[in-house]
Amino acid sequence: MLVRNAFPADFVDISDKSKDWADIVIERESIYHIFTEHFRSTCFIAEDRGEMIGYLLGFRSGSRPDEALIHLIQVAPRLRGNGIGRRMFSQFQAEAKKMGCKRITTHSRPENNNCNRFYKAMGFETASGENPVIVNGMPCVKDYTGPGKHRVVWVKNI
Ligand SMILES: CC(C)(COP(=O)(O)OP(=O)(O)OC[C@H]1O[C@@H](n2cnc3c(N)ncnc32)[C@H](O)[C@@H]1OP(=O)(O)O)[C@@H](O)C(=O)NCCC(=O)NCCS
Repeated sequence: MLVRNAFPADFVDISDKSKDWADIVIERESIYHIFTEHFRSTCFIAEDRGEMIGYLLGFRSGSRPDEALIHLIQVAPRLRGNGIGRRMFSQFQAEAKKMGCKRITTHSRPENNNCNRFYKAMGFETASGENPVIVNGMPCVKDYTGPGKHRVVWVKNI
């Protein structure tokens, strides 16, 4: 298994895999295209004998250059729990540090228990402000991604 930066040509594969693995939001193809074309250094592909088995799409904030964000991370369902997510995350974190970022942020659905355990294991803390909405036992920022879409906001200082 290797973890490498994404190439522009990877975007169709990422799009197809996200549909096959079908357990998180599926973006329009153009979004995957933007990431692989313009944010290559913070996008990673996990590969086994030429087959994509995971991806992480992230970027450095334009508004807050000391912040790097994870947009999506997904691993092939049959291979979860084998350290693939951890490896992609550590390469992302190393790149964020190299760029001079001081923290990594991301958000998740409160019901996504596996993902929430993963971010906790990667050293993230919740940052939900003074009046969090508690959903599924998780402190969320109310209406974070739209009306009724309360989200767990995660921050890791690096
Ligand atoms: C979240 C996700 C990317 C994690 O990838 P992964 O390769 O399975 O994770 P790893 O094997 O590297 O796990 C790293 C650590 O996270 C924690 N963890 C990950 N999945 C977990 C689970 N299901 N239950 C409990 N802890 C878990 C563990 O502490 C683990 O450390 P350990 O192996 O030393 O115990 C994967 O579960 C996934 O693709 N989920 C569906 C997509 C998704 O929800 N993405 C996040 C929102 S965009």
